[in-house]
Amino acid sequence: MNIILLGPPGAGKGTQARILEENRGMVQLSTGDMLREAKDSGTEMGKIVADVMARGDLVTDEIVIGLIREKLETVKVNGFIFDGFPRTLAQADALGKLLADEGQTLDKVIELRVDDDVLVQRITARSTCGSCGEVYNDLTKPIPEDGKCVKCGGTEFKRRADDNEDSLRTRLMAYYKQTSPLIGYYYAQGKHSSVDGLGEIAEIQSAIAGQLDA
Ligand code: AP5
Ligand code: MG
Repeated sequence: MNIILLGPPGAGKGTQARILEENRGMVQLSTGDMLREAKDSGTEMGKIVADVMARGDLVTDEIVIGLIREKLETVKVNGFIFDGFPRTLAQADALGKLLADEGQTLDKVIELRVDDDVLVQRITARSTCGSCGEVYNDLTKPIPEDGKCVKCGGTEFKRRADDNEDSLRTRLMAYYKQTSPLIGYYYAQGKHSSVDGLGEIAEIQSAIAGQLDA
């Protein structure tokens, strides 16, 4: 089963995708993580996208579609969780074609519904483990007192360059202008459903599981 987790910045896409990987053996494909890796390792592409990402604007369709194409051609699994992709109608069309080329289909699109008010708090309090990418939050899921990641024992934690109020405003605007039309796009294909993204992480997880098993 291939699914998309759709939602604004801070909706919990990455958090829920990682739980699905653990529980169902699916593979998370986060274009945001791939772009940050390129940036951190200093590739030409990473240098091009760094400023765009820090501002909170979208990088070009061409770059992100290329990243997803490469993964779909090389990683063979039973289920992908697309996290942060597609983000434009052109990306959505491209994803449909790429999956068809691989003899696969897109099965469900799950939207995480949240209030914009909570997003600032979630985003400005976020950190991630530098080794395994586990997602933390100063308020709702703090790093353990011994300073070690619960998943891998790593001791270095990172904050994102775009996790500030200014960039969040730009990211939210990009979501409403360019990404939210995908809700109608997938609704028309009979693939869209939504869950309340405001509850506890575990509650949201079971709501998603309910949708996947329906
Ligand atoms: P990307 O990395 O995709 O960021 P985003 O969409 O802005 O989403 P986030 O990763 O910020 O949020 P999330 O929904 O994953 O939330 P999380 O689980 O971490 O993209 C970054 C940038 O890359 C873009 O701005 C763009 O420049 C570029 N880019 C990426 N993909 C692109 C594409 N396809 N096309 C063009 N450009 C692209 O949770 C957030 C926080 O909340 C955490 O601290 C977490 O612990 C906490 N939390 C999660 N769930 C809950 C809960 N239920 N209750 C309380 N706290 C919670
Ligand atoms: Mg994320």
